[in-house]
Amino acid sequence: MSKEQRINFSSKLAVVAAAAGSAVGLGNIWRFPYELGQYGGAAFLIIYVLFVVLLGMPIMLSEFIIGRMGQRDAVGSFRKLAPKGKWWIIGVMGVLTSFLIMGFYSVVAGWTMEYVFQAVTNQFVNKDTATLTQVFVNFSTDTWRPIIWLTIFMVISAGIIMLGVKDGIEKSTKFLMPLLVVIIVALGIRAITLPGGAAGLKFLFQPDFSKITSGVVLSAMGQAFFSLSLGMGCMITYGSYISKKNHLSHTVVEVTMLDTLVSILAAVAIFPAVFSLGINPGFGPELVFITLPNVFAQMPGGYIWSILFFILLCVAALTSVISLMEVIVAYLVEEFKMKRKTANGLV
Ligand code: PFF
Repeated sequence: MSKEQRINFSSKLAVVAAAAGSAVGLGNIWRFPYELGQYGGAAFLIIYVLFVVLLGMPIMLSEFIIGRMGQRDAVGSFRKLAPKGKWWIIGVMGVLTSFLIMGFYSVVAGWTMEYVFQAVTNQFVNKDTATLTQVFVNFSTDTWRPIIWLTIFMVISAGIIMLGVKDGIEKSTKFLMPLLVVIIVALGIRAITLPGGAAGLKFLFQPDFSKITSGVVLSAMGQAFFSLSLGMGCMITYGSYISKKNHLSHTVVEVTMLDTLVSILAAVAIFPAVFSLGINPGFGPELVFITLPNVFAQMPGGYIWSILFFILLCVAALTSVISLMEVIVAYLVEEFKMKRKTANGLV
């Protein structure tokens, strides 16, 4: 595909919305808070931010540059820039990783839809942690329900991808990302105004370096890569849709700042509420699916807040799954000359 033919995002805002849409996801709202809870709060946060600045930002810039100069998918861009080298293998690894991540990520994304449903039908009231744990286990080990939600989620994502870069990815992320920011800010304000919420903020912002081990440092680095969607061909693919008029370094700063801000806001929305109700902050991956429904059940106005929270989670997951799918669809379309529709169906 020549440079002239290739579709570009139509504005700077569209670029930031799409890239931030990819970066901000379950990693920020589901994974980051429970890692923070398990690894001792603020000390983990500091190390995480160091990795974001020292590794994440330069790598994101490199991926954007490779995509924009290559004007192709993740594999094609490497091939074009280094026709004689073996760098394209890195691109193949990115496409493969996107595919593998999509495998588990979309399952958890499907769970978020179930929880939107449970929130809307007011199913968290009068349930204690043990009952909510049972509800979660029953649901996640059920044969059909997770598959049905997964299918619905994938059909919506594929529908957006089908519409293409401009009408699908650009339009949806330009609407969904501001919605996400508004909801997370509202949730954060609600949480810090809860009685006893200050202990949660103290946990978040007072570093305890005795909890830091080499394993924790490695987790912080992994989280930085995952959260910024790096090393998976995603920012290369999106970079190939960025027009020459855009300042890539500005985009990198805006996307990383937004991504980090949402992670911190998610923690600010969750921990004061967890502390206010005397719940264990070290809960693992179930934090948002078991602990938070418990928090909402006991919180004034919990019905509305629970709906908002799970919609937020669902929207964040949607814009990330779209980006994972686009990596693979672009690869199939450009490397194998497949029709977008066929590639989409296959993915
Ligand atoms: N960055 C996303 C998150 O934090 O949830 C996950 C993700 C999306 C990783 C796209 C990789 C990717 F290519």
